[in-house]
Amino acid sequence: MSLPPPAKPVTVPEFRAARSQNRKLAVVTAYEFTAAAIADAAGVDAILVGDSLGMVVQGHSTSLPVTLNEMAYHVRCVARAVKRCLIVADLPFGSYHESPAQAVRSAVELIQAGAHAVKLEGGERMADAVAAVVRADIPVMGHVGLTPQSVHRMGGFKVQRDAEPLLADARAVEAAGAFSLVVEGVPSELGAKVTQAVGVPTIGIGAGPGCDGQVLVWHDLLGLYDGLRPKFVKRYAELGAAAREAIAAYCTEVRAGTFPAAEHGFK
Ligand code: KIV
Repeated sequence: MSLPPPAKPVTVPEFRAARSQNRKLAVVTAYEFTAAAIADAAGVDAILVGDSLGMVVQGHSTSLPVTLNEMAYHVRCVARAVKRCLIVADLPFGSYHESPAQAVRSAVELIQAGAHAVKLEGGERMADAVAAVVRADIPVMGHVGLTPQSVHRMGGFKVQRDAEPLLADARAVEAAGAFSLVVEGVPSELGAKVTQAVGVPTIGIGAGPGCDGQVLVWHDLLGLYDGLRPKFVKRYAELGAAAREAIAAYCTEVRAGTFPAAEHGFK
């Protein structure tokens, strides 16, 4: 029996071309080896090593404390697992805000850790940073709308409803050279408008079905995180509940002396 041919790796040009081919893009976050291997084998187009790890992995209430070193560590863990899909890594808060040169240095670090592209938040105000990173030959995914690193300016994780600044941001990031754009936390109608306004794939999260693709956080999609339960999340499994039951069963068996049984021991 011959093995199936290895699945073709997803490249940045292929990811970008999905829009003109009318092919929707499925993206999920992952932060470590086992999760990345599962997501890759399941067929996602891209894994986003998101700074949402600050909340779902590190337990902070925002992504702001996440450092570039921590992001690089998680990118290395993910990169060891991935055989096929694109790896996009978030530039964390403070790693690209000082200057375009700082943005390039930070992006280089994440690419050297194993990412194929970086994502950074912000529209018009961050266009220079996007352009500088793109000039350094590093593909950039933009991120507009509800940008979690701006949580204090926005006064919380709030749906962004102002159409004109959103459209201007999306166009600025595209003009600066981004190959794709995350659109987060906007009314569905606006998500569709942004998608019509740009020529690169839009990846929505809480931005409705009119985007070219969708991204969800691993822990949300699998029912592992109860910290925030935004309306846009669909839980495709309840792994948190399943894990609690499994661990409770383990505790019961250890305490009853029924685990380990004979078959779990060495002769
Ligand atoms: O950090 C992250 O996971 C993200 C997604 C929510 C888009 O930026």
